[in-house]
Amino acid sequence: MSNIESSKRDSFTSKFGIIAAAAGSAIGLGNIWKFPYIAGENGGGVFLVIYLIFIVLIGVPVMMSEFIIGRRAKQNVFGAFRQLTSHGFWKIIGIMGVLAAFLILSFYGTIAGWTIEYLILAIKNDFASKSAEEINTMFAVFSTSIIKPVFFQLIFMGITAYIVIGGIKKGIEKYTKILMPLLFIIIIYLDITAISLKGGMDGLRFLFQPDFSKLTARCFIDALGHAFFTLSLGMGVLMTYASYFQKDTNLTRTSISVAGTDTIIALLAGIAIFPAVFAFNAEPSSGPGLVFMTLPNIFKLIPGGYIFSILFFLLLGVAALTSSISILEVVVAYVSEEKNISRKKATILTTILITITGILCTLSFGPLNNLKLGGFTIFDIFDKIASNILLPLGGMLISIFIGWKLKRHIITEELSNDGILRIGFIHVFMFLVRYLAPIAIFFVFIHGMWELLIN
Ligand code: PHE
Repeated sequence: MSNIESSKRDSFTSKFGIIAAAAGSAIGLGNIWKFPYIAGENGGGVFLVIYLIFIVLIGVPVMMSEFIIGRRAKQNVFGAFRQLTSHGFWKIIGIMGVLAAFLILSFYGTIAGWTIEYLILAIKNDFASKSAEEINTMFAVFSTSIIKPVFFQLIFMGITAYIVIGGIKKGIEKYTKILMPLLFIIIIYLDITAISLKGGMDGLRFLFQPDFSKLTARCFIDALGHAFFTLSLGMGVLMTYASYFQKDTNLTRTSISVAGTDTIIALLAGIAIFPAVFAFNAEPSSGPGLVFMTLPNIFKLIPGGYIFSILFFLLLGVAALTSSISILEVVVAYVSEEKNISRKKATILTTILITITGILCTLSFGPLNNLKLGGFTIFDIFDKIASNILLPLGGMLISIFIGWKLKRHIITEELSNDGILRIGFIHVFMFLVRYLAPIAIFFVFIHGMWELLIN
């Protein structure tokens, strides 16, 4: 490694910092915005069960696999496969990852923009005087308009690019460590209020009592796609972060704690939102606006609601930011390293392109709402292609690489930190990455495609 490279590679300050950054990538809009609405569209409890099974049996092993590859190769996804194998085929993981990152950041910017608008509404104390109906109307009017949603999207993308240009996100992890626990506390406070709402128990029942008659092919594919999306898996984000892990980082424990924290935050968000859905007569399946239409009603009720609403949307924005920088980083690393363009130029160029496609996603709630393919808007299509196709396929290839291609001694060395940690679970892990994860992903996939074709 050259000097320049090694100084660049050392720029993550602490061991905890880089792990916080990985958790910061995982925890984002996926947990608080997407999980409740996807669960709501897929029958609640039954979605939750499938999703949890996928997190444990597929998400955690694929995350461990990304960690093994990243820390071993100490490179981003392209360099990593180049170093660990002579076969050019594996490059496909990186290419699909770049494409997924492009699509995800396009629609991520839309929702992050909504978050900024809601932060401003909170500051103006706009929820306080409004009824549940008025809050719904407010969302409908805002999300279907043109100027404001696009404007806030531009702001968010600008901030994301600004941070990525600064190189490895120094300092960001410092804030993540303080701000994410704060977000956690606020959500718990919302939970307590939500549960005590009249009708709140119906919401909890919806989320926690699975009705297996609602099980559909779509539920499987959405749950799988969301497991990958929420854990930032399948496109090399965590591989890149792991390339900065230290020798003594426990890869297994880190995977479990990142996946565990991520899941707990999603559950806590669900516990706040579904009681409110039922108490204020909203539809669980109302789609991407769900969080924005329900939570303002809770803020109205709680002591200190004004301050908490501001803090909540602010922190949600920060959570979105720590995820969006990790997504943009994938595209920038590719363009700057593979195409030999300076980081700054690469960041500006890719941000402009992503923002342009992103604006299409934003407008697909308003003027472009009629532009549909198979009933899906541009926003939906970007999300489905990235989350339900590209990420699971990437994850399948990553687990096949670990299960069938990478030398076993490398896996053992990485998981045991060169023999220091006990790894009695290695057989279970190998079974999951060799057989269960790839086969399960394959079947969910074929099943989903089949349903799509015959419908
Ligand atoms: N995991 C992030 C979230 O839940 C989104 C994300 C997806 C980030 C893929 C990186 C890669 O919001």
